[in-house]
Amino acid sequence: PVATRVADLLKRMTVTEKAGQLNQLNGGAFTGPALNDAGQQAKMQMVREGKVGSMLNVIGSAETKAVQTIAVEQSRLGIPLLFGYDVIHGYKTIFPIPLAEACSWNLNQITANAGVAAKEASSAGITWTFAPMCDISNDPRWGRVMEGIGEDPWYGSLVSAARVKGLQAGLDNEHILACVKHFAGYGVVESGREYNYTDVSRVALWNKYLPPYKAAVDAGAASVMNGFNIFENVPVSASKYLVTDVLKKQWGFKGFLVSDWASFGEMITWGYAENEEDAALKAFKAGSMIDMESKVTFAHIPELVKQGKITERELDETVARILSIKFTLGLFDTPYKYNIDGREQSTLFTTAHRQEALRAAEGSIVLLKNNNQALPLQTSSKIALVGLYASSKEDMFDFWIAQGDYKQAVSLREGLEKAWGADKVSYAAGYQADGSANEALVNEAVTNAQAADVVVVNIGLSGKMAGEDRSLAAPEIPANQIALLKALKATGKKVVAVVSSGRPLVLTATEGLVDAIVYSWILGTESGNAIAHVLSGAYNPTAKTVMSFPYAIGQIPVYYNHYNTGRPKETDGMGNWYSRYRDIPREPLYPFGYGLSYTSYTYSNLQLSKTTKQKGASIQATITVANTGNYDGEEVVQLYLRDHAASLIRPVQELKGFQKIALKKGESKQITFTITDDLLHFYDATGAPVLEKGKFSVMVGGNSKDVQEATFELQ
Ligand code: IFM
Repeated sequence: PVATRVADLLKRMTVTEKAGQLNQLNGGAFTGPALNDAGQQAKMQMVREGKVGSMLNVIGSAETKAVQTIAVEQSRLGIPLLFGYDVIHGYKTIFPIPLAEACSWNLNQITANAGVAAKEASSAGITWTFAPMCDISNDPRWGRVMEGIGEDPWYGSLVSAARVKGLQAGLDNEHILACVKHFAGYGVVESGREYNYTDVSRVALWNKYLPPYKAAVDAGAASVMNGFNIFENVPVSASKYLVTDVLKKQWGFKGFLVSDWASFGEMITWGYAENEEDAALKAFKAGSMIDMESKVTFAHIPELVKQGKITERELDETVARILSIKFTLGLFDTPYKYNIDGREQSTLFTTAHRQEALRAAEGSIVLLKNNNQALPLQTSSKIALVGLYASSKEDMFDFWIAQGDYKQAVSLREGLEKAWGADKVSYAAGYQADGSANEALVNEAVTNAQAADVVVVNIGLSGKMAGEDRSLAAPEIPANQIALLKALKATGKKVVAVVSSGRPLVLTATEGLVDAIVYSWILGTESGNAIAHVLSGAYNPTAKTVMSFPYAIGQIPVYYNHYNTGRPKETDGMGNWYSRYRDIPREPLYPFGYGLSYTSYTYSNLQLSKTTKQKGASIQATITVANTGNYDGEEVVQLYLRDHAASLIRPVQELKGFQKIALKKGESKQITFTITDDLLHFYDATGAPVLEKGKFSVMVGGNSKDVQEATFELQ
């Protein structure tokens, strides 16, 4: 059994070798010219001496095998390495960014996407990815929202679990270890600025932020990454409460932890640790484990053991978790099981993977506006395609693209030319990426527009503007693009905006200037084909946004599951003094769960099976959904609940169910949701579930705002 083998190995390891298992180095290359590089030679020597337990960023089967060979065949105990890599939305075949993928509300597709990523990465010797990111965030200024699950903890939990399932599956050599990050609460970075302070109450933590991490852990994720952030003024890597009390004890997590890049060492800069030794001690004592690249753990653990500040038993318990997974993966017996000759070549970027990426991309596109059925477009119409990003593959690809090659991606221009024929599509760049005005570019676009039937204008931001260290103070459409839209509108032609971005942007100015808005996020390898299929109607949009679109920057954070306040509206008794802005509406431009289809749906006759519910019993909510438009389609029917009075105030709405259903033109279906106690409870500050009697509202609709409502009493 694994436990016996781990115990036996630990008996034979020196303290330095044990500390080595907690040491993760940025790898690089270990073949060819790298063999003569002093830095790489030093890393190889450390591996040989058993001083490294895992590496990140070693690319390809030949490289991982080369350094694994040193670990297994040249080190004293032959302990194999783990190879980590940010395989976030694909390895070679690139899928939509995770935020876009979450808008599909298609959990099977999400699992399939992760499965393809795992299959490709594992063929290149990767054993471990730093995904999924389970941080709930309400702040589109934060560049990391591209990597996440949106603003809802219930749905975000399902997505997180679906990703873990796809990545890890049976832990065979076609799957890789998942890593739940960034534990915990990193999505609340103050003012959306990366690496910033976070302040979150225990009640908010348990109710809003912890559920997705917990769901991913429950789905069997092998590892967890500490965030860069702070909890109750302690860096989370050193938070005994989060790491030991919650994760290991309350949730029973048996896997291992890794820091974020250099985050143990950064505790000194935060002003929490006095020096490197103190940082290593504080992280270790809190229950944190592997040190990614700050090197403080490996440098100081042996001395800390010698001084008795860390016992060898504590060290053994920590290292055992890492060795266990290495044994479980079978790496001691078959260390090269991920390095099968020829598998990389036959696995990467296959037609089947590209088809999966196309399906995923189509399902991620959110139709936000479609006045007078501006879309879909006839394939007989002449299109003036405008927009620098429509032909810049590089801009439409990042962030976190692993080994994806933007040159192999399909641009919007290529996608349209394929679907319409090159002779029907003219092209003009229309704007410059730096935001500066350029009259000549606008004039060229206008000339093309005048000669066409319809304008498709690709606006937004480069994918390179979202991701780690890509915070923005003003997530909005740049002024030069707004000027372009005005000029295009003045031509009197129908204008369809395709908006590319790794985050929701403020679209308030855009909204008034165009007939349709297709929010295409950043879609990966098949981007241009997927957008073309939506524009032509070959694919009828089904996605719904999982982040609210702010009306204005000053409204951020704006999210659907907010609290009521004591003065929510004019009619609440205090007349003209209520919670609002004097200059803009209080509501977002597009709410959570919103997304249009080319067909239309009507919701009617919401019925509850009972108007009172006993604890332990269930209640059914039934509604009729009809496809009243001219196309077959798929609709995401959403269930929201509200607890009207509780010992801890509850949000005005909380998503607690959804069904994505296919409805043919003219068809209607009765949809039933079963409401049980686990959908009604909330958590107190210790994480204990609390179920309290009283009035609950049930809301069902096609987005968080347009809902039918009924109430029941929990007794
Ligand atoms: O996995 C990432 C993490 O999300 C942010 N910092 C760097 C890590 C490794 O690349």
